[in-house]
Amino acid sequence: MNKPFLLFQPYPLKNIIIKNRIFKSAMSEALATEDNLPSDKLIRLYRTWARGGAGVLVTGNVMVDRKALGERRNVVLENDRHLTLFKKWAEAGTENGTHLWMQINHPGKQVFKGVVDEAVAPSAVPFEPSLQKFFPKCRALTGEEITAIIKKFAETARLAQNAGFSGVQIHAAHGYLVSQFLSNKHNRRTDEWGGSIKNRFRFLQEIYKAVRAETGEGFPVSVKINSADFIKSGFSEHESLYVIKELADMGTDLIEISGGTYEKPEMTGRNIKPSTAKREAYFIEHAERLKKETDVPIAVTGGFRTKEGMEEALFRGKTDFIGIARPMAVYPALPQLLKENKLQKLTLTQKKTGISLLDDHAMLELTWYSQQLARIGKGKRPKPAFSPLLSLFLTVLKNGSEVFQKRRV
Ligand SMILES: Cc1cc2nc3c(=O)[nH]c(=O)nc-3n(C[C@H](O)[C@H](O)[C@H](O)COP(=O)(O)O)c2cc1C
Repeated sequence: MNKPFLLFQPYPLKNIIIKNRIFKSAMSEALATEDNLPSDKLIRLYRTWARGGAGVLVTGNVMVDRKALGERRNVVLENDRHLTLFKKWAEAGTENGTHLWMQINHPGKQVFKGVVDEAVAPSAVPFEPSLQKFFPKCRALTGEEITAIIKKFAETARLAQNAGFSGVQIHAAHGYLVSQFLSNKHNRRTDEWGGSIKNRFRFLQEIYKAVRAETGEGFPVSVKINSADFIKSGFSEHESLYVIKELADMGTDLIEISGGTYEKPEMTGRNIKPSTAKREAYFIEHAERLKKETDVPIAVTGGFRTKEGMEEALFRGKTDFIGIARPMAVYPALPQLLKENKLQKLTLTQKKTGISLLDDHAMLELTWYSQQLARIGKGKRPKPAFSPLLSLFLTVLKNGSEVFQKRRV
């Protein structure tokens, strides 16, 4: 019997149908206006992607608080003053029956020096010494501030819904504020927000409840979470399974699995074993374990590069959606190309300049991909052969050398 092809089979979430299994994962576009609003370039980028045929497009992280930017050109949504611009963004990204989910985020202490006046975190725990030159000192949030941030997440979700986004995703991965709360290494609190995993989960749990209360039962609410942080006494795989099962019981519509933080950027595949790279998806084993314990729909993101690998993961029931980010910056119509069998295998090389000091820096990769996003935003074609060294040179020429230190996932 021939295996069924699932990549282009629709998938029913609670109240909606997603037209296929391609789930474009968040990429911080850094394409907002000076005032942190959606720009024409950002809107054009999403129109292009929507026409390219993905089932779901998740936006790059949108900040819930202007005082807590992750990088200078992030979009911020905290009031309805410019909702018309957000409506235009939503209209563009939902063309062609596409679902557009806004990823909502607060960076906590994972923000580069000079971007914010003050970095906040669950506890005043500094990063490891090698990273301290990039990050400002942080201070612990008060209980009142924690409650205020929870409300901000809910408010951003409500505004996104009003603007016409068809769902939201809470960013609980990659070392940002929610992920800091989940981690025993970064959360040393002794009140109800710290200690046991039940307490460390409370911040995410309350955000989820507040977002759900604002947006109602019929609105998709997703959470992106780490399979693990891959650092000693960080968020473990066991804890991740616990949190995901709790989120599933609470009614989360979809869980996206990733992994790593700035301290260990596993989400980009930097430290993965050759055997994992060969098998494509970096975090698929975690998803497999998860599938045995809960039936919440999941997307696994990181490393998918062949149509065969995607179909195999779906056929084996390891995931329900194929999370995909960097390939969408090089092939904006990737879903269509896969559907029409015009592309079977993506070859994306690691971005290197040949200068080891620069190549050890994960940020080069981000700058290179962001430039591809900016090209699409300007209505140009991506340039897969674009030289990483030239990409770096142009970025520094345009923004000064500090920008290279201020890119983030
Ligand atoms: C330029 C760039 C920006 C990113 N920004 C975000 C982000 O805002 N939120 C997020 O959850 N992940 C972000 N990521 C991580 C991706 O969503 C994804 O987890 C990672 O790239 C691995 O998937 P891939 O192998 O398909 O690229 C970013 C990645 C890149 C390359």
